[in-house]
Order: sequence, then structure tokens, then C-alpha cells
Amino acid sequence: MQKNFHTETKQIPGHVAIIMDGNGRWARNRGLPRIAGHRQGVESVTQVVDACARKGVRFLSLFAFSSENWGRPRHEVDALMTLLLEYLASQRQKMIDNRIRLQVIGDVSRMTESVQQAIADAVRETSEGDGLTLVLALSYGGRDEILRAVGRMLDQVSDGALDPASIDAETFAAHLDFPGMPAADLMIRTSGEMRLSNFLLWQAAYTELYFTDVLWPDFSLEELDRAFDHYYQRRRRFGLTDEQLGSDLNDDQPQETDH
Ligand code: IPE
Ligand code: IPE
Ligand code: MG
Repeated sequence: MQKNFHTETKQIPGHVAIIMDGNGRWARNRGLPRIAGHRQGVESVTQVVDACARKGVRFLSLFAFSSENWGRPRHEVDALMTLLLEYLASQRQKMIDNRIRLQVIGDVSRMTESVQQAIADAVRETSEGDGLTLVLALSYGGRDEILRAVGRMLDQVSDGALDPASIDAETFAAHLDFPGMPAADLMIRTSGEMRLSNFLLWQAAYTELYFTDVLWPDFSLEELDRAFDHYYQRRRRFGLTDEQLGSDLNDDQPQETDH
């Protein structure tokens, strides 16, 4: 392989995480109710999911509703739940056809029975998918997820199934909401905010961050390509030196652990 030819050596990010922000401002800029922004945001979701599946991204995790978003006005929360139900219903067959596997992280027990049921059905019906894994973060907070992992491990310790002395990063990751999910390679946040807002705290330890001022409903496939292009220029050192890594950008990375 030609070592100095970036176009030949760039690796698609295996796990892309997106904080989809700016729906409310998109609507306000147009004098529309916030929910109109959320509705338009679903269009961006559909496009980005299709594009990532086509490009060969293995995991796409989307921050759709945070643990803190429960504090929004009741009518906005209800509208977001309705949009989620509509999304699952309208995308179900397409996900199956495109071999997309759906997974959910977050505390879904806070959602209504009917929403929980629709999520469980969609996860089950798409479970055979061997293409893109779409991870929806719903009622999700990174700190909550870490605490849930601790709780699961404590249960096992008290059952005698887990030796506390054996707990390492791999054991810990295996108790997160979706143990099969690798570390995030690229995290995108739209709308100009430069913060994590409690998304994927554990999995973002070495993620490449990309921020754009574009509001989520305006996030086009060109924007996605721009984010990927930035990613390809990054040099992921994982604590090592340039000399140890050799000459390529974003290539020949040291073996990452699963999480
Ligand atoms: C992101 O857009 C979607 C959710 C948090 C559900 P916002 O609703 O946060 O939009 P802004 O930040 O108010 O513009
Ligand atoms: C983060 O956006 C959560 C989601 C995108 C679902 P917020 O709009 O809730 O984040 P803050 O409040 O600006 O940090
Ligand atoms: Mg916001």
C-alpha cells in the first residue's frame, strides 16, 4: 500500500456519533413552532442514516433525546415521542431491507408502555441486520449509563458472579447499555455548541470531535462529507508519538480496545 497517499489510506470512521442540535433555532428562525424543527430534523436523520449505511459505517449513534430533555415543556416532550413512533413505523421496512440493525441506549423505562413496545418491536424485527447498526440514544445520559453499569456490576458481585478485583475497562464496558458498541471514532455536534451535553462519556474518551454551526435540520450529505474529510485529516495518536505511528494520517492506528 502506498503509505503517503491519503486518499488511498483513509479509513472510514467505524463509529460515528452525532449530537443533533439546533432544531428549535431552525424553527424559530422561520417563525415556526419548535416541533416543526424537530420534524425537519427527522428528514436529516433519514438521509444521514442512509448515507452512513451506504458508506460502510458500522455504528451510527444518534443523540435523539437526553435524560435532561425530560425537563422540557410537556407538549414538546409528547411531540418528540410521537415523532419517534412515526419514525420507527415509517423506517421499519426500510431498515429490514437495508439490513440496518436498530439498538437503543438510555433509560427507556421512563417512556410510556406504547413507546417502549414500539422500540422493543423495532429492535427485535431488525436484529438480523448485518449492515449498519443504528444506535438511538433515548432518555440517555452518559452519567446515568455509567451508573447503570456500576449497578449491574454490583448486582453480579453480590451474586458472587463477578470478582471485584477482576474489574477492568473491558469488564466495565461490557456492562454498559449496549455492550457491543465500540468507542466513538468521530463525534459531530451541530448548531455551534461546543459541549458534550452528557453524551457517550465513556465511549468518547478518544473520539475526534467535529463541531459545525449548521443547524441539524440543515445538515446535508455535503455537511456529512465535510465532517468525514476533517476526520481523515486528523492524526489519532492515542497517547503515542508521531514517530511511533509512522507517516500516515488516520491510518495504521494502534489497536483500539473495543470500548
Ligand atoms: C435538538 O434540537 C433536538 C433535541 C434536543 C431533542 P433542540 O431542540 O435542542 O434545538 P435548539 O438547541 O433549541 O435550537
Ligand atoms: C443535546 O441537545 C441533546 C440532544 C441532541 C438530544 P440539548 O439541546 O438538549 O443540549 P444543551 O441543553 O444545549 O446542552
Ligand atoms: Mg439544543
